[in-house]
Amino acid sequence: MVRHFLRDDDVTPEEQREILELALQLRVDRYKVQPFVGPKAVAVIFDKPSTRTRLSFSVGVAELGGYPVVIDAQTSQLGRGESVADTARVLERQVSAIVWRTFGQDCIEEMAAHSSVPVVNALTDEFHPCQILADLAAVADARGSVGALAGLDLAYVGDGANNMAHSYLLGGATAGMHVRIGSPEGYAPDAAVVARAEEIAAGTGGSVLISHSHDEAVTGADVVATDTWVSMGDEAEGDERSHAFTAFQINARTLELAAPGAHVLHCLPAYRGKEITASVLDGDQSLVWLEAEYRLHAQKALLTWLAER
Ligand code: CP
Ligand code: NVA
Repeated sequence: MVRHFLRDDDVTPEEQREILELALQLRVDRYKVQPFVGPKAVAVIFDKPSTRTRLSFSVGVAELGGYPVVIDAQTSQLGRGESVADTARVLERQVSAIVWRTFGQDCIEEMAAHSSVPVVNALTDEFHPCQILADLAAVADARGSVGALAGLDLAYVGDGANNMAHSYLLGGATAGMHVRIGSPEGYAPDAAVVARAEEIAAGTGGSVLISHSHDEAVTGADVVATDTWVSMGDEAEGDERSHAFTAFQINARTLELAAPGAHVLHCLPAYRGKEITASVLDGDQSLVWLEAEYRLHAQKALLTWLAER
């Protein structure tokens, strides 16, 4: 059975550790593994804008010895209504993996259902699991080891109903972290995702806290994270969201409440003065540039791991 990576809980805690260990090794020894030498092709498809994901998968596949074929939905037949199943049937005959950024999770599940090669979620409305691998790898690197992740308090404040919040819940619980989500009323995470995260945490020693208080979420946290208040597709609600999320900004006070030396994460792109202040994003406790670099190493590790199944 081919393995896919559509959600953070598509890997077990042990498998996540293996991928993160390889990611840390690849930062030190960039060409250590080359599963796509030949070169084998990997399709990287975008239905939404991207800078980091496009860059890191393109560079990553090339560094793994392969050839990235980057496709925009707008200029392919997918954008003109060709079915996902037919697209999968064509792609699987020519590429070694399919990486896709799209809208609904149901779309990427359909691609996977029709693909004999691994399908990787490069962001959907519901999850952004490659980003969380990079975030966990960056924190592990900064704290000296992958083993250091378990037991850390990870607080995410802002839009609790978006892809990043959901992936922090599942990915953080898988890593054995205590995941706290702080969001305004009306922007809480999906109940089924919370229940799944609690189930995972019960087995890893982690825990889950869902709060409507910024202060409750971040007090004593080892890692504080946020994301844009206006995800791709939410643009029409921009003003309403900026108003609703004001009390959930990461700023100097957040760091006073968090554990001393707490690390700060943001998947980027960041909007300074909105979800995070410039002084925190650009400050000493910020891991955001290492986090962005780890998109490359973590995705190379993931693709290598999937290629070896
Ligand atoms: N963090 C992230 O996924 O960035 P892009 O949207 O630029 O790919
Ligand atoms: N939540 C954001 C993440 C961007 C990388 C979005 O979906 O737009």
